[in-house]
Amino acid sequence: APARLWGGRFASGPAEAMAALSASTHFDWRLASYDIAGSRAHARVLHRANLLTDDELARMLAALDVLAADVASGAFTPTIADEDVHTALERGLLERVGTDLGGKLRAGRSRNDQVATLFRMWLRDAARRVAAGTLDVVDALAAQAAAHPDAAMPGRTHLQHAQPVLLGHQLLAHAQALLRDVDRLRDWDARTAFSPYGSGALAGSSLGLDPAAVAADLGFDGPVENSIDGTASRDFAAEIAFCLAMLGVNLSRIAEEVIIWTTSEFHYAVLDDAWATGSSIMPQKKNPDVAELTRGKSGRLIGNLTGLLATLKAQPLAYNRDLQEDKEPLFDSVEQLELLLPAIAGMLETIRYDTERMAASAPAGFTLATDIAEWLVRQGVPFRVAHEAAGDSVRRAEARGVGLDELTDEELAACSPHLTPEVRTVLTVQGSISSRDAYGGTAPARVAEQLARLTAKSQDY
Ligand code: ARG
Repeated sequence: APARLWGGRFASGPAEAMAALSASTHFDWRLASYDIAGSRAHARVLHRANLLTDDELARMLAALDVLAADVASGAFTPTIADEDVHTALERGLLERVGTDLGGKLRAGRSRNDQVATLFRMWLRDAARRVAAGTLDVVDALAAQAAAHPDAAMPGRTHLQHAQPVLLGHQLLAHAQALLRDVDRLRDWDARTAFSPYGSGALAGSSLGLDPAAVAADLGFDGPVENSIDGTASRDFAAEIAFCLAMLGVNLSRIAEEVIIWTTSEFHYAVLDDAWATGSSIMPQKKNPDVAELTRGKSGRLIGNLTGLLATLKAQPLAYNRDLQEDKEPLFDSVEQLELLLPAIAGMLETIRYDTERMAASAPAGFTLATDIAEWLVRQGVPFRVAHEAAGDSVRRAEARGVGLDELTDEELAACSPHLTPEVRTVLTVQGSISSRDAYGGTAPARVAEQLARLTAKSQDY
């Protein structure tokens, strides 16, 4: 007979369709090693509460070691009759240590507090892996910024040419967002580092078991304050689903830029062959599939967040079986990011920027107009007047089909009596970029400082 955990009050086993609906081992088997770690910790507190003898504890731990090895080697796997990972591993334990001793381990715990704890453990490890993968992307962006200290490009708003910036400044903007994603995962971990183990089904244990000891054993900062909350809440899952969705969205913004920058029209960047794909019909094609999959999968990560929130909405306290639906979206978000992050890092490390083409387009679209206005402000002209005069100079240059730096002295003077030929000192991309030297600005020295601080911070993690 299958080792169901709740057979006693039932005259028959579940209907086939009931069992098929209920089964979760095809996804929650990922929690197996965490479940066994929980069982070891639980055995120790049972022993400390005099519910296992020294000898029983030793035999229990030895059997759990064998079970862990068999799970790792694939010698022990869940069967169709095992409802979930916890049930399957209980069967595995009973098979190895016998039902008399094996049957003692369930005292004082429930699958409700088990699964709430193990899911936190799995996610905490996953968050560290995702953070490490994200830092690799940060490193790739930082390396490209360091390799191109003087490369200028048109900075954009509304995708229109706005003001010249350094390529490094733009790349580090993405890096800053990713570093915040890592920060968010770390902040999340501090809130999630509390163990529900020992909460039982919801009300806590009557057996003198110490939740703090289990928590410490499993690497948590302490036990949860409230056993009902501990078994019923999944805001930790929703919160990391948001962190992962936000990361996906930030990655998709990088991806979108790669897609645009590698078009023939832009040609700001060329993908390395190892990080691009071809077309089955068009021999010339080199497609940015890494970037497109990133953009596409970000939608999936958002869906995983919104789906989970909808699952959690309006569930009464405490545990409900709806909560079994919490795991697949998170497993998926993590697994998708573990595929994406190394590919994005590789793509960004090896992408070649056409810095000449970028620099040539940097002044196009009159990106130096703000420099004229701000030069006038430094001569004491009110900004409102300066903005008008600079706009006038754009109108005249556009009408004549020349750049702002090509306007004659007379044309400049006609825009404003204050517009003397000296304004031409700022009418170069280099002059404009180096004039923006406030903290966080695009001047080369400021971008270099920003890069140094970012590198120090990411290496500190
Ligand atoms: N497999 C369930 C889950 O993932 C845990 C089992 C709790 N089941 C129950 N009937 N109390 O949430």
